[in-house]
Amino acid sequence: MSSDGDIKTTPRGFQCVLCNVNLPNMSSVDQHVKGRKHQTLSSVRTTRKTHEERSVFVSGIKPEVSQSDLTEHFQQFGPIADVIMDKEKGVFAIVQFAETESAHAALTCVEHLMKGLKLRVKPRERKEFKLIPKKRNDAQSLEQMFERLKPELCQLPSVDAQMQYVVERLQLGENEKKARELLVQLLQEIFVEFFPDSEILPFGSSVNTFGIHSCDLDLFLDLENTKTFQARAKSTTEQVGEGVSDDGRSEDSILSDIDLTTASPAEVLDLVATILKRCVPNVHKVHVVGTARLPVVKFQHHKLNLQGDITINNRLGVRNTRFLQLCSGMEERLRPLVYTIRFWARQKKLAGNPSGAGPLLNNYALTLLVIFYLQNCEPPVLPTVEQLKDMACEEEECVIEGWNCTFPSQPIAVLPSKNTQDLSSLLAGFFSFYAKFDFASNVVSLREGRALPVVDFLGKGKEEEENPPKGSRQHPKLGSMTLLDPFELSHNVAGNLNERSHHNFQRECQEAEKYCRSLQYQHKSAKGKSWGLVRLFTPHGEVSLNKAEQLSISIPFKSTSLPEAMRSELHTAGEDFRRLWFQKVLSAVEQVFRAVLQCHLTVSSDAAAGEEAAEGPPASMNSSGNDSFDGVPPQTEQSPQDAVVVGAKRLLSSGSDTSVSPQGKKARLMKRGKPDAPPWICTQKYPVWAGRRKVKREILKGPDSGAEGSCAELESKVTAHIQEKEAQLKEALEFRVQPQVVGGTESTKAVLRLQPSSDKPGAFHDFFHFLEVFVPKMVDTLLEKEAQNQMTCD
Ligand code: UTP
Repeated sequence: MSSDGDIKTTPRGFQCVLCNVNLPNMSSVDQHVKGRKHQTLSSVRTTRKTHEERSVFVSGIKPEVSQSDLTEHFQQFGPIADVIMDKEKGVFAIVQFAETESAHAALTCVEHLMKGLKLRVKPRERKEFKLIPKKRNDAQSLEQMFERLKPELCQLPSVDAQMQYVVERLQLGENEKKARELLVQLLQEIFVEFFPDSEILPFGSSVNTFGIHSCDLDLFLDLENTKTFQARAKSTTEQVGEGVSDDGRSEDSILSDIDLTTASPAEVLDLVATILKRCVPNVHKVHVVGTARLPVVKFQHHKLNLQGDITINNRLGVRNTRFLQLCSGMEERLRPLVYTIRFWARQKKLAGNPSGAGPLLNNYALTLLVIFYLQNCEPPVLPTVEQLKDMACEEEECVIEGWNCTFPSQPIAVLPSKNTQDLSSLLAGFFSFYAKFDFASNVVSLREGRALPVVDFLGKGKEEEENPPKGSRQHPKLGSMTLLDPFELSHNVAGNLNERSHHNFQRECQEAEKYCRSLQYQHKSAKGKSWGLVRLFTPHGEVSLNKAEQLSISIPFKSTSLPEAMRSELHTAGEDFRRLWFQKVLSAVEQVFRAVLQCHLTVSSDAAAGEEAAEGPPASMNSSGNDSFDGVPPQTEQSPQDAVVVGAKRLLSSGSDTSVSPQGKKARLMKRGKPDAPPWICTQKYPVWAGRRKVKREILKGPDSGAEGSCAELESKVTAHIQEKEAQLKEALEFRVQPQVVGGTESTKAVLRLQPSSDKPGAFHDFFHFLEVFVPKMVDTLLEKEAQNQMTCD
């Protein structure tokens, strides 16, 4: 059966209704349709359909009628493939013929008399083939939970009551907590047999007061004391003689296979996995995930229906769990807020990475975002981590892996907050806080309870590399969102987010902020309509973006795209760094379109574009050897960044801007809203976005695989290969690319707005989705390459 009917367009791309999966673009649709899952289901469906066509439904039988009676009767119409009887009740049977014609013949026969019975023979009911998905604990049960919650929430009198109710309904019940405790106890008893003096400590949602039904059980297997035990046993063995350790354990115990002080985490985890598999009842699906930031052993407990993770190096996790417990104890509004925001984030697909890894926020990060917001309320709802440290007494001092993790052990040690806002206004405040938060310019620090300028982190890397201060630490990985762990200050808890997930988070906050200002947020509907949290939680699938927003590609000014050499070049450019960076980005974007994707590129010759070009920065900003262009008027085959260099009448942020605050500049830039470079007109005749990964694999396997070359060169080869092998598009794609620089001095972001000349969905839609990810990535690569080249020249 053709797959055409299985693919439906949705506001976010496509959906395969057969396999129940969402697909972002046509190339993923192509790949999906050729993939194993779709192929298997299609063939099952075809077989099922054929069976249906070849079978008849027989009723009027009696329990004493046998399969062979029916076979004997019906084989007069053709060979029988199978007879399925409703044995229990003995009222019907399905007779399946080997050929469709036989079924037709049986159906056209006027009377079926068999052993004195008058059989009724009807066509088999045609059922729509549907994939019954395997029960996915989290996503599915959350959806079901929301369906159940909806009417209940609507009945409640206020948003505050709704938020409290969410906690009540989602939180771990007493029995669930007890069951987890018992499992931890059992694991402790088993592990101590193999790892004497070891301790198994739960952390994360099971114990941090934010756990929900079916949340993971995170465990830390502390082997510190076992190491001491082992060292002691070793020295005793040496003294006493081979074979027996100090407590009489024989040398063939599991510990004799491994030296914990020298074993790699992978070796220890393998051992842990073996113990789980062999010794813990009801545990299955045990496997080691060695690639995670903190390698873990994953397992499932099928009686308790829960997923567990065991790590062997997460003392900080245990400590930050204590911190979350403390925060909950200090401030009773925290739990309803966290539960509500976690639920909202799951519904909007902002959090809950499938299988743990992915570009979405994790629950820990979300909780920290809530705490940070509460630290920034006026007056603050929660103190900063630094303030908490000062409230602790001497016995509470705690340093783990060199990080200061001191805070009071009891909430009583902390003065209550003076903030009296109710839950609904705090929730609305959360959305407006993050809707506006400038993540590009700031690092979120719970330690200090304030946003730290990202520029402070940019310079440091290099300085410290050259002259590392005593006890200095690695810097956090700056990303589209940098959320510092409150204790492990070199860890960006949101480092896994990509530009898109960060953008989605802020966009959803903006949507939610708008909603919270509407009547439906605060006022219970007298007509029983959705209101309050119910509307906030409703997954909208349809994102009400305007067209311009939908078709824009963002390239943020972020450190990950800044190689060291370029960082210092920009650093020395001072106030000019913004324009210098934009120019470099434009040059890289042009290379991506022209050289890598082999698009035909011209500068738009329309009048508006000419004017726009005049808005560009001055010749002085040209730092990449384009001086020869000085004073030459823009030409049609000229690139925007050339035009930026040559056609300048006014500075993007002119000399006088130095006296203006970044905010002032930003406001003016936004207000002016004019593009900062003339648009390109781009044409692409081939489906260069489709199947690139496969082509790349082939190239890498082929004779060229060992050849020297950059990532950009490899991507150009991929494009060339596609152009050579694939047919041209029926209609070439033509679109306008309008580059613009937006944001304040430190939140600089290059935005490319794309506008197709014909509004045909499908191919352009696919190309855009590809470009959205590909262009920023390639720009990073090319900037790095440029910096390397510059270094070589120097
Ligand atoms: P999760 O993000 O899984 O949070 O991190 P959670 O509260 O347990 O939520 P579930 O399990 O998804 O329901 C689990 C724990 O891992 C530590 C924290 O202690 C967190 O509570 N963690 C997580 C870190 O220390 N750093 C991280 O970056 C992430």
